[in-house]
Amino acid sequence: MPAADIQTERILVIDFGSQTTQLIARRIRETGVYCEIHPFDVDTEFVKTFAPRGVVLSGGPETVVGEGTPRIPDGVFDLGVPVLGICYGMQAMAMAFGGEVQSSPEREFGRARVVNRGGRLLSGLDDELDVWMSHGDKVTEPPKGFVVSASTPSAPIAAMHHEDRPLFGLQFHPEVTHTVAGNEMFRRFVFELCGCEGLWTAENIIDDAVNRIREQVGDDKVILGLSGGVDSSVVAALLSQAIGEQLVCVFVDNGLLRKNEREEVETAFVQKDERGLNLVVVDAADEFVERLSGVEDPEEKRKIIGMTFIEVFEREAKKHDGVRWLAQGTIYPDVIESAASKFGKAHVIKSHHNVGGLPERMQLSLVEPLRELFKDEVRQIGLALGLSHDRVFRHPFPGPGLAVRIMGEVRQTYLDVLREADEIFLDELRRADLYNSVSQAFVVYLPVRSVGVVGDSRRYEHVVALRAVETTDFMTADWAALPYDVLGRVANRIVNEISGISRVVYDVSSKPPATIEWE
Ligand code: XMP
Repeated sequence: MPAADIQTERILVIDFGSQTTQLIARRIRETGVYCEIHPFDVDTEFVKTFAPRGVVLSGGPETVVGEGTPRIPDGVFDLGVPVLGICYGMQAMAMAFGGEVQSSPEREFGRARVVNRGGRLLSGLDDELDVWMSHGDKVTEPPKGFVVSASTPSAPIAAMHHEDRPLFGLQFHPEVTHTVAGNEMFRRFVFELCGCEGLWTAENIIDDAVNRIREQVGDDKVILGLSGGVDSSVVAALLSQAIGEQLVCVFVDNGLLRKNEREEVETAFVQKDERGLNLVVVDAADEFVERLSGVEDPEEKRKIIGMTFIEVFEREAKKHDGVRWLAQGTIYPDVIESAASKFGKAHVIKSHHNVGGLPERMQLSLVEPLRELFKDEVRQIGLALGLSHDRVFRHPFPGPGLAVRIMGEVRQTYLDVLREADEIFLDELRRADLYNSVSQAFVVYLPVRSVGVVGDSRRYEHVVALRAVETTDFMTADWAALPYDVLGRVANRIVNEISGISRVVYDVSSKPPATIEWE
């Protein structure tokens, strides 16, 4: 299949600032169709050249009633392709065609049941549909040519469609799982109404990425900071497939890693990779630990680790002639968030590339083969590229590693103890089949002394805290209600198997107000 094909079949998602815009895009991608999110103030020229097969208008926090409120970009309705407005998107569509929208300070929020009145998007689905509503404004008079396709007692126009043109509006949110037939609605929209075929599959994404990487870098060498996390691992596997030995992977052992992490990366990428992956493991543990000596402030620790990483990485990179590119595991949510921040619509801006500043300093250009992918897609292609389930579904691990899990000063002895305790916790979670049901789990080292007894003797030693959270986006998180017997077993093993720890506590703080990490 020619490289360009899988993206020429694409849907444009216009973002009006809803919290669920990314979910819309993920639902569409899950059907097997490529889509991109762009803010509502894109210009007409862009809309035209993007040439989508269909357009989805997202929800948003504003009201459509009044002057100066966000409008649908010019040119969307001239494309002649199907348009689906969701919530704010439906109200904006109603306004654009001369319908009436009433603003109400009372929000209808939560589950609702709508009566299905048909139309090409909804006909054939159940007569009554369980949906998720979240709106203040509502359409009170459909524009000329539109008819009602679903209603509830409080929102008589809960969905509408044009009688002749492929224009659809849903007051409820099909992207949210509470809308039971939501996926089916997206499927109908992209396949039956927009005429897509579903080319966005893991195999096609890989083929396409491989071709594009080859075109982009030619015969040049590419360097990658491989951390062993999901994103950098998938970048390594993908680049290795695309350019084989032109790729140099650098794994920095900063002495702040979990137990066996370095060995696991070596096993996963060198022994199993028959294409000949160049993996350089740099042992810089002493350098990092020495520089951290006596430093107590968490931000100062992060800064030292970031700077040292750059120095070590740069030193290594210079040993390899002909390197012109730096590969990074930037993924689509990072791209959306930094684009949104430029327009002042972002809620979160997070920079998590520990090689920041390097590309300019070393005059390297960037290869970012995951830029268009959501995390679940990165995982899918990781599996398709032959990475193990464990690697692809592992918990995230912060760049500064165990250093931010030791309160205050980092010492070698603390690192050694923490590594063992952490291993016990993860091991027991895996045995109890709980590892995959929590999003992140780890141990935190608290260098405060607490009294304990072993046999007849008194111990006066340090404390560790167990932390396990459940979250989908890591911006908010609930503490995980782990079974008492598992917690008990972990605590027992830690105190009995590791000398230097006299007490184990469990962290029952959620985020907010606490953060996931302790520093
Ligand atoms: P917090 O503690 O902010 O963590 O609730 C949210 C997520 O981010 C990870 N985290 C980091 N990752 N460098 C990283 O690469 C950091 O300095 C850092 N601090 C927190 C954390 O593990 C969690 O997944």
